[in-house]
Amino acid sequence: MYVCSCFGITEEQVREHAAAGACTPRQIASASKAGTDCGSCVRRIQGILGRGECPRRTALDRGEPPLTAQPTPAPAASSAVAA
Ligand code: FES
Repeated sequence: MYVCSCFGITEEQVREHAAAGACTPRQIASASKAGTDCGSCVRRIQGILGRGECPRRTALDRGEPPLTAQPTPAPAASSAVAA
């Protein structure tokens, strides 16, 4: 069943995006455009998302820093200097 008729996004697609890590209607919109035209589907998307498991929100609720990209270690400095 379509959740977002403007972009033809189904409930199944919203659930797939949620399973892939989208926790908010805004993140669903980033992934699928759902909710970015007339906006009438945003409440239904929020209803599908509910208060289910969300890794980012769970980390924040535990007082942990939000999930972010891990910094890559700096490359080892080369002792050989070309002259
Ligand atoms: S129904 Fe989703 S943006 Fe219009």
